[in-house]
Amino acid sequence: MQFELTEEQISVKEAARDFTQQELLPEVIERDREMKHPTAQVKKMGELGFLGMMVSPEFGGGGMDTLSYVLAMEEISKVDSSCSVIMSVNNSLVCWGIEEYGTEDQKQKYLPRLASGEWIGSFCLSEPEAGSDATSQRTTAVDMGDHYIVNGTKNWITNGGKSSLHIVIAQTHPEKGHKGINALLVETSWPGVTVGAKEDKLGIRASDTHTIMYTDVKVPKENRIGDDGFGFKFAMKVLSGGRIGIAAQALGIAAGAYELAVKYSKEREAFGRPISQHQAIAFKLADMATEIEAARLLVYRAAWMKDQGMDYTSAAAMAKLFASEVAMKHTVEAVQVHGGYGFVKEYHVERLMRDAKITQIYEGTSEMQRIVISRNILSGQLYEPIWKAETI
Ligand code: CAA
Repeated sequence: MQFELTEEQISVKEAARDFTQQELLPEVIERDREMKHPTAQVKKMGELGFLGMMVSPEFGGGGMDTLSYVLAMEEISKVDSSCSVIMSVNNSLVCWGIEEYGTEDQKQKYLPRLASGEWIGSFCLSEPEAGSDATSQRTTAVDMGDHYIVNGTKNWITNGGKSSLHIVIAQTHPEKGHKGINALLVETSWPGVTVGAKEDKLGIRASDTHTIMYTDVKVPKENRIGDDGFGFKFAMKVLSGGRIGIAAQALGIAAGAYELAVKYSKEREAFGRPISQHQAIAFKLADMATEIEAARLLVYRAAWMKDQGMDYTSAAAMAKLFASEVAMKHTVEAVQVHGGYGFVKEYHVERLMRDAKITQIYEGTSEMQRIVISRNILSGQLYEPIWKAETI
C-alpha cells in the first residue's frame, strides 16, 4: 500500500494552491455576495490546464490521473467551490464521458475546445420531476432517422448560462424504461435551446445554475453517445466518476474550514490564552483533523481504484457520502470556533458552511449514495461471509 504522492502529483497540488491564492482568494467573497460568475478565473483555469486534466494529450488535455485531478479539486475547493464545481462538471461529467464513451469524431470535435476552456460543458440529467429518480426522464429525443428531435426541460444545470455544449439525457423509447434513454451532445448555439432563469442559491453562488428548455432541437444522430438506449448506463457510469470529484470538493471545503479554524483559534484569546489551548476547542480541532483525514483516505482511494481500472462504484459513493457529511459537520464546527465572527460575511467560514450543503445533494443525494452502497452489499460485494450456518 503506497500512501505517498508522486512528484508530479505534488506539483499539481502546489500549482492548484498557488492558483487559489493568486487568482481566487482576492475577490471570492464579493463574487459569492453578488452571484458574479468567475469568468476571468475560469479562463485562467483553462490556460493552466485545470479544465481538461484527465483528457489525453492528443485531444489537448493534461493526460493526468484521477488522483491528480482530486488533489487540484481539493485545493481549489478550500477557497472557491463555485470555481471547483465548474471544473468538476467539465472534467468528470463532460470531458471524461466523451473520452470514455464517445466516438473518435466526437472526441476530436469537442475535447480540445472543452479541455482548453474555449468551451465549457454541462451535464443535463435532472428535471423538475426526475432528479434522484433518473429513469423517469420526461425530456424526449424522437428518432427521425438521421437525427433526433429533442423537447423538454432540465433543472439545476451547472454552467447552464455559460456552456457551449450540453450532454442531454432524454427518453427515446418510453416503453423500454431505462433501456430507452439516450445521451446526446447538443451545441447550445443550435436553434431551440433556451437558457431559463438563473437560480439564487444558498451556496456556490458564483457558479451559474439555470433551467434549460429544449424546443424541437434537431440533433444529428452522430451526436448520440454509445448505442441506442445506452444513455441511462452512460449517466450512471459518468456520475460514479463525478462523485469522486464532488467528494474531493467536499473534502476541500472541510479542509479549508478546518485550516481557518486552526488559524483563528491560535490567534484569538479568551480567559488569558489562545482559545486553541482550551480543551473545548482543542477537542473540536482533533475531531475535525481525524474525520477529514478519514474522508481524504476514502476520496484518494476511490480515485486510485478508478485509475487502476477497478470497479469504483461503491468506493465513489462511500467517498462522496462520507466527505460531504464531514464537510457539513465540520464547517458548522468551524463557524462555532469563530464565534460571532463566524456568522458574518467578512470571514470565509460562513460561506464554506453554505457551500458544504450542496455536496450532500448534487450528483446524487446522500440518500442515493446509501442506495448505491446498500445495493452493492446485498448483491454480495463489500461483505465477506465468514459466519457459516454451522458456527451460529
Ligand atoms: N454503473 C453502471 N451501470 C449502472 C450503474 C452504475 N453505477 N447504476 C445502475 N446501473 C445500471 C444497472 O445495472 C441496470 O442495468 P440492467 O437493467 O442492465 O441490469 C440499470 O442501470 C438500471 O439500474 P437500477 O435498476 O439500479 O436503476 P434505478 O432506477 O433503481 O436507479 C439509482 C438507481 C442509483 C438510484 C440512480 O437512479 C441514481 O444514481 N440516481 C441519482 C441520480 C443523480 O446522481 N442525479 C444527480 C443529477 S446530475 C448533477 O447533479 C450534476 C451537476 O450539475 C453537478
